Amino acid sequence: MLDIMSRKAQERIAHTERRIERRDKMLTHDMSKERATVEEVFDQATRMIVFDLMNSGFLYELNGVVSSGKEARVYWGTDKEGKDLAVKIYLTSSAEFKRGMHKYIEGDPRFKDVKHDTRSLISVWAQKEFRNLREADAAKVRVPKPIAVKSNVVIMEFIGKEGVSAPSLKEQAPVNPEKVYKLIVTYLKRLYQKAKIVHGDLSEYNIMMWRGRPVVFDVSQSVSIQHPLADFMIKRDITNVNKFFSRLQVKVIPDEELYKMVVGK
Ligand SMILES: Nc1ncnc2c1ncn2[C@@H]1O[C@H](COP(=O)(O)OP(=O)(O)O)[C@@H](O)[C@H]1O
Ligand SMILES: [Mg+2]
Repeated sequence: MLDIMSRKAQERIAHTERRIERRDKMLTHDMSKERATVEEVFDQATRMIVFDLMNSGFLYELNGVVSSGKEARVYWGTDKEGKDLAVKIYLTSSAEFKRGMHKYIEGDPRFKDVKHDTRSLISVWAQKEFRNLREADAAKVRVPKPIAVKSNVVIMEFIGKEGVSAPSLKEQAPVNPEKVYKLIVTYLKRLYQKAKIVHGDLSEYNIMMWRGRPVVFDVSQSVSIQHPLADFMIKRDITNVNKFFSRLQVKVIPDEELYKMVVGK
């Protein structure tokens, strides 16, 4: 059986096994501390938001931590039917984050009239991620389906299985890079021309490979194409994507040409 399996398939299985092992370790390791984690990392208000989302039926269980970033933590959760969910909780204590956030929110016509205290800003940031996911999804860009948002907590479709996130492009190069590149070019166009937003942090780190197709995520910083930084951001996204796929020997569309295609000139 094993020898008829391609090397790639074997590698993929080994990779998945390693991820599951890591997850199990994380769970046994973290579960005892989980209560403490939820209690220490999150303020009272955040805990109330999580309970509220549980009471309104969006969330049934909050399991282990999937990712612990500077600005947010992503948890593996489940709904009543046992379906996996990703629960992204923005940390209200990240000072760096507060400074960084302003430039994206100001200048976006969708978010004029917002209050500037920390909790309000972080809440806007989470709403922005939710709204960007919805707009991308409506434009037929494959993203985690948005499910609910409340204050600094975003619930979305879990990309992966049983608490193990699908690998990012960075972690696992695609088997068919030409096909994946083409899809990402299509997504860039749809994001710009249909959803009228620019991702702004697109790279191999923020694209997962799931069931053979790329899934774009981490869209909290994405801005309207009218934002003063939009042009700079789309060019940077294009450069990042082209660089990555060039390294995989894909004959990429030159940056300038791709830019024109994406913005529709
Ligand atoms: N919807 C999701 N499904 C599964 N895993 C996810 C999901 N969203 C995020 N993750 C995991 O959490 C990590 C960090 O998420 P991301 O949205 O990029 O947050 P950050 O802002 O901290 O970079 C991702 O690399 C991925 O492994
Ligand atoms: Mg990220």
